Amino acid sequence: MLTLALPKGRLAEESIDLMTSTGWLEGRPDPESKELVYKDSKGRVKILLVRSQDVATYVEQNAADAGIVGWDVLKEGGYDLLLPLDLGIGKCRLSLAAPSGWNPEERHRKVRVATKYPNLAREYFLEKGIDCEVIKLYGSIELAPIVGLSDCIVDLVSTGATLKANNLVETEVILESTARLVFNRSSLYSKRKEAKEFLDSFTSIEKQL
Ligand code: PRP
Repeated sequence: MLTLALPKGRLAEESIDLMTSTGWLEGRPDPESKELVYKDSKGRVKILLVRSQDVATYVEQNAADAGIVGWDVLKEGGYDLLLPLDLGIGKCRLSLAAPSGWNPEERHRKVRVATKYPNLAREYFLEKGIDCEVIKLYGSIELAPIVGLSDCIVDLVSTGATLKANNLVETEVILESTARLVFNRSSLYSKRKEAKEFLDSFTSIEKQL
């Protein structure tokens, strides 16, 4: 049996849809459930429902054989994982956004940036040659510039509705992201037969993208 870490949050429903359409799940785990381990009636997989930022850690540490995780999270964390497939789901982008008219080049002090992605934000400003102070937040990032906690944000944009609702303008796309299938290095060998079957079923999905 394969143990899979699936993300709660914005990737949850699409990930579960993929697992059912590839025939690995018969039932449907509830991402809102308090029960965090789901054993499917088909008995082929055990599902761990974890926060999207934690999926890569579970798989890297061999608590799960495989998982589904956003490219944004992988780039931020720099995990040691096998990344066999781009699943094409969960399309979004990591962008710099700020109140209209803001220009980082015009500032005489460090730019204060609020983000859930401190490494990627720091890297972005370093490449631009702009001094920055990163303010690490865990959610509702768009609030930070409104209340003066930061000058700008680096955050995920999907539809753009959250930016618009908070009068923020997307000034630059830093990274395009989609969900990836990730595999633990040793599981790919120790559970070779199941892992191959699992990957093959997803490869057929990838061809249809
Ligand atoms: C994400 C992201 C943005 C929003 C973007 O937040 O951090 O806030 O979605 O989506 P949109 O462009 O479609 O409006 P999430 O919903 O995960 O909640 P959070 O702010 O608590 O992290």
